[in-house]
Amino acid sequence: MQITNNRELAGIKKAGEAVAITLKKMKEYAAPGMSTKELDEYGNSILRSFGAISAPKKDYNFPGYTCICLNKEACHGIPSSTRLLKEGDLINIDVSASLNGFYGDNGQSFVVGKDHHNFQAQIDASIEILYLALKQIKARTKIAHVGGVIEKEAKLRGYNVIKNLFGHGVGRKLHELPREVPNFKDKKNNDRFRKNSVVAIETFISTKAQYVQEAADGWTMMARDNSYVVQHEHTIIVTDNYPIILTKDNGI
Ligand code: CO
Ligand code: CO
Repeated sequence: MQITNNRELAGIKKAGEAVAITLKKMKEYAAPGMSTKELDEYGNSILRSFGAISAPKKDYNFPGYTCICLNKEACHGIPSSTRLLKEGDLINIDVSASLNGFYGDNGQSFVVGKDHHNFQAQIDASIEILYLALKQIKARTKIAHVGGVIEKEAKLRGYNVIKNLFGHGVGRKLHELPREVPNFKDKKNNDRFRKNSVVAIETFISTKAQYVQEAADGWTMMARDNSYVVQHEHTIIVTDNYPIILTKDNGI
């Protein structure tokens, strides 16, 4: 959506705050021995305290309130009472919700407890790259240019990017125009970021693979070669300068 008045600005800010604080609290709550379903239900209780409704559940009939991935899962992981968090697991939580008709979306990968398997360098790279991308985004910046920056910065750090997962417009729906904000320079894409538009910018930084596939459960996406993929996502408003980060409260 494009923000055209103060009422919309206030509404989108509240939605961003609700998903960001939910994500932050879920990260704090995650601990070894806990099931991903317990973590998901905790997240839903925080969303509810804001009056927010899970977007994947409401709009896509997703079997959970938030998407939770462990280790080699890249995105859209289904919370489960039989998946227990272990110390050293790589976890990704993605929280998106609607509040009074406005949508916010954010996600982050982190390590449960101590980093036994050395994921932190990849996580730090993804966070750095997200902020380098945000620094490039102003009104009229080409979407392809930002994708090129993400890919270049990933390669400089020894990683690849996933080419079939995307950032996206957001605001009145979870997914709206621009339909795709790729993590690579798509030379066919001449679209530019528009002033006052609301966009979810997300990294997908991979140890090797450049594509993910849907698993047998019909939701979870992961690479065929078992690459690790980390993601960090903010919802922003495009301005003439540095974007307004609507999900800054998530602590990324
Ligand atoms: Co998301
Ligand atoms: Co998103």
